[in-house]
Amino acid sequence: MQRREFLGSLTGPVVAACAVCLGACNKSSSGGSNGTSTATANFTLDLSTQLLTVGSSVAANGVLVARLTSGTAPSAFVAVQQACTHQGTSINFVSPSQGFLCPNHGAIFNTAGANTGGQSTAALKVYTVSVSGSTMTVSG
Ligand code: FES
Repeated sequence: MQRREFLGSLTGPVVAACAVCLGACNKSSSGGSNGTSTATANFTLDLSTQLLTVGSSVAANGVLVARLTSGTAPSAFVAVQQACTHQGTSINFVSPSQGFLCPNHGAIFNTAGANTGGQSTAALKVYTVSVSGSTMTVSG
């Protein structure tokens, strides 16, 4: 998906944030520290009360966990670092396009963590998800 297609699928406040960014930034205006994460994570989520609907997401311990599909298979979820690899802004999960968008300068990441558009070029750190009963464990 190209950046223009991705942005075209967005609505509401996300579009407003991107519109501001597109007028104010460009590829050469980086500076500051990047958000590359080397942090480790090991925490649990209760799937009987969290991530109940496809497209929902939860941020915890610097990790953004999102539900991609129904069911409780680990592949139904994705967990990535919450900090954008450009300058560390907290990214958002955008459904139904199922990607991650940084509201600061418009970096776009797919559900594998790869940068697919916008400011950043570095991939997001992806964490391991496992599920036992209604308990999800995020580690890595
Ligand atoms: S902080 Fe610049 S694109 Fe995310």
